[in-house]
Amino acid sequence: MDLSQKVLAVKPSATLAIAAKAREMKARGIDVISLSAGEPDFDTPGFIKEAAIDALRKGQTKYTPVAGTLELREAICRKLKRDQGLDFTPDRIVVGTGAKHAIFNVLFALLNPGDEVLIPSPYWLSYPEMVTVLGGTNVFLPTSEATDLKITPAMLEKAITPKSRVLILNSPSNPTGRVYSKEELLALAAVLKKHPQVLVLSDEIYEKLVFDGQKHWSIAQLDPEVAKRTIIVNGHSKAYAMTGWRLGYAACPDKTLAKAVESIQSHSTSNPVSFAQAGGAVALDKGDEEAGKMKAVFEKRRDLFLDLLSKIDCFKATKPGGAFYIFVNIKKTGLSAFEVARRLLDEAHVAVVPGEPFGSPEHIRLSCACSEKDIRTAVDRMAAWVRKPGAPA
Ligand SMILES: Cc1ncc(COP(=O)(O)O)c(C=O)c1O
Repeated sequence: MDLSQKVLAVKPSATLAIAAKAREMKARGIDVISLSAGEPDFDTPGFIKEAAIDALRKGQTKYTPVAGTLELREAICRKLKRDQGLDFTPDRIVVGTGAKHAIFNVLFALLNPGDEVLIPSPYWLSYPEMVTVLGGTNVFLPTSEATDLKITPAMLEKAITPKSRVLILNSPSNPTGRVYSKEELLALAAVLKKHPQVLVLSDEIYEKLVFDGQKHWSIAQLDPEVAKRTIIVNGHSKAYAMTGWRLGYAACPDKTLAKAVESIQSHSTSNPVSFAQAGGAVALDKGDEEAGKMKAVFEKRRDLFLDLLSKIDCFKATKPGGAFYIFVNIKKTGLSAFEVARRLLDEAHVAVVPGEPFGSPEHIRLSCACSEKDIRTAVDRMAAWVRKPGAPA
């Protein structure tokens, strides 16, 4: 079958091969511990489920407005006011089938062929693939531990050209877990103010998972001028353990963009699932206590992970301030991340995600979405693996 040029340009998910192999090994009865989950291992809180069940019982089984029910969009506006102090109206909110969908639709609405999208690297693997499909040009801003895996104002300034259209910010970040502070965002905003052609897509999906008593900041709440060109993307998946519900939204700086995003959505998926939206509204209004409990568990697991990993010399894990990933530098092993991931699976029966698809062959990503027991056993196995003859220790 001949496929379109567009789809041929997209890389198949490089992590799938390892995930498929881990599944196949488990099916053969091998005790594989998976540190590869990209979703919370908790169930959705009961009262959120009840709200969706209630909506089903009341017959909310029809199409809703494409951009989402007014009830949910009003709840999103309340959330943005409460958490970020930002004033939005429902006509600037478009709810899609997950934050991934919202990001795709926003980029669809904004990019012309050749427009440059600035992506701090390591990055969430879907951003560049979306940009490629949409005819944009990826411009990566490589970071390292030297800048705590974050971009600096100087890096941003250097990367901006007249063709720069969108900067994607993702704080807390998948895969690095890095969180930009208020001061760091203000410094980036100062650069952006010199370049009015650059919009910001601020992916805040891990907002509720910020540790060490720190606060999450959106660049939109720090500078009114930058706010006028910032699209906030957020969703329910990570904060309220609602990955399967497929709810995410774009909060747009003006109605024109919101209408454009809605229009694209109207010709592809239409509204997000009607009764899921009812649960989504309740989650935003009443879900923060439960979100806080899940955060506390992730934070405890992060600390355990860091403590245990500190005993493996060739794995260097620097402390993530948020999200639920530990991004481990494996350069000292002398192997690529793919090779480390493949061998950890084959030889230690631990599944991790290699960094190459996130833009880094020097890191592996470990997920805290598993039990403390699994974390202990997995790190024991990894420590034993590096000590084996022929292993990289
Ligand atoms: C950084 C980031 N953005 C967006 C998403 C998309 O989340 P969802 O489509 O489930 O809302 C994910 C999911 O892994 C993510 O890690």
